[in-house]
Amino acid sequence: MNFIENESEKKLRGGYYTPEDLATYIAKWIAKSNPEHVLEPSCGDGIFIKAFHNIGNTEALHFHGFELFDDEADKAQKRASQLKIKSIIKCADFLDHAIKLMAAGKAEFDAVVGNPPFIRYQYLPSESQEKSEIIFKSEHLKFTKHTNAWVPFVIAAIKTLKPGGRFGMILPAEIIHVMHAQSLRTYLGEQCSKLLIVDPEEIWFEGTLQGAIILFAEKKKKIDDHSYGLGIYKVAGKDFLNEDPEKVFEDTPRINGETVEGKWTQALLTKEERTLYKLLLNLDEVHKFHQIAKVDVGIVTGANKFFLVPNSVVQEYELENYAHPMFGRSEHCPGLIYDEQQHQENTQKGNPTNFILIKDELSKLPKKVREYIALGEADNLHTRYKCRIRKPWYTVPSVYSTKIGMLKRSHDIPKLILNTVDAYTTDTAYRITAKETIAADKLVFCFPTALTALSAELEGRHYGGGVLELVPSEIEELAIAYPKKLTKFDLEALNCTYKKESAPEILEQQSRIVLGALGITAEQQAVLLNAWKRLKNRRQRISD
Ligand SMILES: C[S@@+](CC[C@H](N)C(=O)[O-])C[C@H]1O[C@@H](n2cnc3c(N)ncnc32)[C@H](O)[C@@H]1O
Repeated sequence: MNFIENESEKKLRGGYYTPEDLATYIAKWIAKSNPEHVLEPSCGDGIFIKAFHNIGNTEALHFHGFELFDDEADKAQKRASQLKIKSIIKCADFLDHAIKLMAAGKAEFDAVVGNPPFIRYQYLPSESQEKSEIIFKSEHLKFTKHTNAWVPFVIAAIKTLKPGGRFGMILPAEIIHVMHAQSLRTYLGEQCSKLLIVDPEEIWFEGTLQGAIILFAEKKKKIDDHSYGLGIYKVAGKDFLNEDPEKVFEDTPRINGETVEGKWTQALLTKEERTLYKLLLNLDEVHKFHQIAKVDVGIVTGANKFFLVPNSVVQEYELENYAHPMFGRSEHCPGLIYDEQQHQENTQKGNPTNFILIKDELSKLPKKVREYIALGEADNLHTRYKCRIRKPWYTVPSVYSTKIGMLKRSHDIPKLILNTVDAYTTDTAYRITAKETIAADKLVFCFPTALTALSAELEGRHYGGGVLELVPSEIEELAIAYPKKLTKFDLEALNCTYKKESAPEILEQQSRIVLGALGITAEQQAVLLNAWKRLKNRRQRISD
């Protein structure tokens, strides 16, 4: 959990400024349409003014900037005067202006540029939260409190753009995949005739873990005009700045229709990869995960350090009758079977392998156990939200184990873990139950293929550190091959393979066995594997 008081002032005002070379590249593409009125909704010290000056031919240009902070707005105004660019820089909240324009149905600008603030909704002052919601609602877009400050900026910017106008902004790379931006993605798909993302391998903004992209968009002239959809142009280094953005915008292949309606990760695939992926999804024995298994969240304790403990604590407080096996971290299960042997290994390492489940009332508990509870209370654990809303605070609800577990986060590929010792898992893992006709061990065996790994890259999310995270609704969408023909399989051997081989080797082997059983050819398996590798490397920011 991040708390507002731990965040820097720069982060809270979303004050990471655009490097001049990137701003100039954006201005170059925008300037091609000869705009007269250009909006910069959060202009900071006015780097985009300098960018248009760098491109030249600014006689007809009127720059309309908004900036919340007067020092920055002054700098932007001074810059415009020095560079002799006609500008009106308002020290004001752009969202106020946008709400008025949107209410009046006014689309005033030929182009919009910028780099809007990146601030979590929960950190915004309540008036800004309300304004964000108004902007979503005025365009009939589904609002969510998971949103971020940049999203209403983009909605409002597109709305205030004249038909056929151009949009060029630096935006968080999460626009491609985060669920909270789904209504924005749909909106952009509807409103724009063409979209292009310039997707760098590197992190452009030093000091942030947040990847950024450039979004170029052309607003439709009429809402029922054809939409050519989205292209993603992958770049490494800054050589691309020497290319003509107009040519890149026109020439990058695009996807449209249903593939652009969900997450935009599909646009990271080549046409061949996308066609194959779609084809395989239609096979009878390739399922969406929700068709063959149920995903539930893990146990929420509210105070892991109290409820998840090593053997030493169990012994000290005589908790043997209340201790149950548990695992919750990837290093606790390097293979894909969690069995007695793995559990003993973890126990000997002093890992917190015990889940403490105390159901009795205090007066009925042995003295040492009461002492342990008192220790938790001395640490104020009983006042924590999740603990104080249940009675007694030390009885964790919804405690059950499932035959299969799945860690929320993974480095290379997600995996299912066969849980043969009824171990509990907490909120770092999901509880998976195979449907009646599906064998748990076979499901675990069939999971690590290039097809499922690729679908995890397409459906999942990742943040600055490059770790892949899947939430239940994303897991439910994973594609998994479960061939009837595959009746003999050696999960023990795969468990050993997992402990010593790399992810590509595992996927290659399992694709051969599992996808091969469905008649998916070696060439097709290689296409999937290649696509997976590229998407994984992109996430981890590794050069191909
Ligand atoms: C990421 S910085 C970008 C500044 C400049 N556009 C650039 O590209 O270098 C975002 C700027 O937005 C300003 N800002 C934040 N919320 C705003 C709002 N509601 N209206 C206008 N400006 C805002 C911040 O003060 C900050 O200067």
